[in-house]
Amino acid sequence: MIGLVFLASIMILVVTVSQYKEEAEDYHKKRLLRKETAVKVHINSILENTSFEVKTSKLKYIFKSNGSTRGLSSISELSRIHKMPINIYDLNGHLIISSLWHLDKNLDSTWVLSPQIIKKIDQNRDKRYVIKHQGKDGEYQSSYSYIYDRQFKPIAILNLPYLADSTFYKKELEEFLKNLGTIYFFMFILAIIMSYLLSRYITKSLSTVNNILRQTSFDKQQQKIILKNPNDEINELIESYNKMVDQLEESAEKLAQNEREQAWRNMARQVAHEIKNPLTPMRLNIQSFQMMFDPNDPDIKQKFDEFAQMLIEQIDLMSKIASAFSDFAKMPQAHLEKADLVETIRSALKLYDPSQVRFVSNHEQILFNFDKSQIQRVIANLVKNALQSVPDSREPDILVSVREAEEKIYITVTDNGSGISKEHRSRIFEPKFTTKNSGMGLGLSIVKKIVENHNGKIYFNSEPDVGTTFIIEFDK
Ligand SMILES: Nc1ncnc2c1ncn2[C@@H]1O[C@H](COP(=O)(O)OP(=O)(O)O)[C@@H](O)[C@H]1O
Ligand SMILES: [Mg+2]
Repeated sequence: MIGLVFLASIMILVVTVSQYKEEAEDYHKKRLLRKETAVKVHINSILENTSFEVKTSKLKYIFKSNGSTRGLSSISELSRIHKMPINIYDLNGHLIISSLWHLDKNLDSTWVLSPQIIKKIDQNRDKRYVIKHQGKDGEYQSSYSYIYDRQFKPIAILNLPYLADSTFYKKELEEFLKNLGTIYFFMFILAIIMSYLLSRYITKSLSTVNNILRQTSFDKQQQKIILKNPNDEINELIESYNKMVDQLEESAEKLAQNEREQAWRNMARQVAHEIKNPLTPMRLNIQSFQMMFDPNDPDIKQKFDEFAQMLIEQIDLMSKIASAFSDFAKMPQAHLEKADLVETIRSALKLYDPSQVRFVSNHEQILFNFDKSQIQRVIANLVKNALQSVPDSREPDILVSVREAEEKIYITVTDNGSGISKEHRSRIFEPKFTTKNSGMGLGLSIVKKIVENHNGKIYFNSEPDVGTTFIIEFDK
């Protein structure tokens, strides 16, 4: 915009100046012609009335200064009336008489016109020739034309040097340029202000969009963009972004649904598998006992006891497995009630050796809406994992902390264990994922489920061989 205004002002300037120049030139040309005509009419009337014979050699007597009886025929008189110098040359270009003679001593009969000028006058259709030259007080236009006798035969050349006085035009031009300058100055300022406002208006909405886009991450709920009166293009952009958010949410929903179904399928398969495992050895054992059963065997009582013991153990194992899965499956809805989180965690940690598991809190009491037994289960699971992660060569040092901040409550469990290797990080919250021989792999998935039931988040930092910190974040 600024560039355009600037360009326009330059173009107008150039056009105007050249227009003015042309007009001024035209004006002077016409004026010179008018004056020339007037001088010629005057000269003709003098020639008609003179008592001298009208021919070249007599001209200097006819126009001689102060020599005329009538007082009008002198060339200086003529010059004064028409307000311009007048020179008369003979046809060969020698100066016959000049109104400037008494002023300029250089002008005398030795003053000769260049033959080119003489030729040009003859060649031109109107028998007239105008040359321009730059004098010290401005531009001169000098016209040359014939003076005729009564028979229209050229007898001399009339030369009228004319000072093209452009001060009037110059002044006018200056005035105009000044006005133009003022107008364009204000236009310029206006353009700057307008482009500033416009660009700010555009960048403001763009930067809002930009900010929201920057905050966008795929692991949390997408925020829609709402802008107060955005312009059309940006509105379009925002609309398509919002539509994308909707679609994303929809597909995330579908994905979650899918994942849940997949998880349940896996779970069912796993349960079937775990329960079938001990069934085969049980069946074999019963079959062999049945075959070898001998009521007369004196040891039969002891053998039967052993057999029954083994069966009971297997059945217990199956029941343990079944209840672990049902625990996981029938995670009850969180029963939220206002309670003291510090107290709850402290009581959950009573089971552990205080030299191995320490507890800190930044407040005596942190009141919060939560399900007591579920949070205790979370702490128990995390602390159990933490203790299990510490290699035998080290003394366990577990720190449990609860911290109330401005808008959030943080619970952390830090251990000095072996850490979580890179390839396991993405999977540890999956049900049935374990790296332990005896593990069920359900602990962390239960923890995650509980935390999410409380509208919280759980994540962790881990450094191999240094330790792991699990962080739970609740909104107050
Ligand atoms: N504090 C920890 N330090 C190192 N690894 C851990 C920690 N907590 C959990 N893990 C890893 O996450 C896996 C899953 O844990 P979890 O769901 O509790 O099942 P489990 O304890 O039965 O293996 C563990 O097998 C272990 O590899
Ligand atoms: Mg565990």
